[in-house]
Amino acid sequence: MVTILGIESSCDETAAAVVIDGRIIGSNVVASQIDLHAEFGGVFPEVASRAHAEAISAVVEQAIEAAGVGFHQLDAIAVTRGPGLVGSLLVGINYAKGVAMMTDKPLLGINHLEGHVYSLWLTQPFREVDFPVLVLIVSGGHTELLLMRNHGEYERLGGTLDDAAGEAFDKVGRLLDLPFPGGPHIERAGRRGNVKSFDFPRAKRDSSYDFSFSGLKTAVMREVTVQPSAATRKGRKKGAEKHAQLRSDISINDVAASFQAAVTDILVEKAARAAQEYGATEIFIAGGVSANQMLRQKMRQETELPVRYPPLNLCTDNAAMIAAAAHYRWEMGLRTSLSFDVRPMWALNNETYHDD
Ligand code: KG4
Ligand code: ZN
Repeated sequence: MVTILGIESSCDETAAAVVIDGRIIGSNVVASQIDLHAEFGGVFPEVASRAHAEAISAVVEQAIEAAGVGFHQLDAIAVTRGPGLVGSLLVGINYAKGVAMMTDKPLLGINHLEGHVYSLWLTQPFREVDFPVLVLIVSGGHTELLLMRNHGEYERLGGTLDDAAGEAFDKVGRLLDLPFPGGPHIERAGRRGNVKSFDFPRAKRDSSYDFSFSGLKTAVMREVTVQPSAATRKGRKKGAEKHAQLRSDISINDVAASFQAAVTDILVEKAARAAQEYGATEIFIAGGVSANQMLRQKMRQETELPVRYPPLNLCTDNAAMIAAAAHYRWEMGLRTSLSFDVRPMWALNNETYHDD
């Protein structure tokens, strides 16, 4: 039995969890900063790192207590090393180093995207995985299409060239005056709207496995906002969507439904095609946007392959997925040096851990 404490602080959730054998959740504590950031309509890095620093020790202690283990019973400490916000990552990394030193346990620096992949291993009841599988990671910061050939083996097939899928949801949410983060609110509004009301562009409907969502956001903006006069246009270049005035004759539900249809169409189309081309046995979806029901449903409809997604509470950021990924890295022999540094732009592919 391998018991790992996971710590995650890459973006706006301070999280800690205890996971046994990479499958069984002993505890899973998430302190969300959503209320803090809602005021700004997005994640404010300085505010995020301060909030992590304030929350982390209580969150970790709570995870240990809820799991009913002592620090001495842990086999290892795992922490998100990147990608993410530098200041936020550092809070988790420094705290984890402290715990590792104090308890004399090995420390593992884990890739956040790999964490999202391993959220699929926390699904109960668990079905064994027959590799290769096609993995689509869709979150606030990433849109990645990967072929996973084995534990820890990833071939990157493509990803977004501009906005991440979740980022597009959040920006359009802001345009529609919905609370932050936009994803769940757009989903809710979209349920009451007509997906055919607006024919938004399906960008990069080409043979590549890359995505582009910034044009879609601009198309939505053009459709739903009052076009500014020359006088009001002055000085509103950056963050324009925040200040744009919503047209009063527009149905937010219809825009939300049509926007969601456009995003999910292109995600599903490329994932299904890649799965077929590479002979994947299954399609895995992970990350915050994998909570989206339209995405899940379309994916099931568009492919004959089985489709897996995490339980809703493991789609968005959490530390159980970090501890789960760490379990497989632990078995592969990863032991990160206590002096390791932060990797804010760390990609997930076959080279990810090659110099650790
Ligand atoms: O994985 P995550 O918690 O953080 C990152 O690693 O980025 O993903 C957060 C993103 C946000 O952009 C949020 O709007 C989106 O996931 N999201 C959703 C839904 N729930 C969360 N997007 C669409 N539909 C949802 N139900
Ligand atoms: Zn994430």
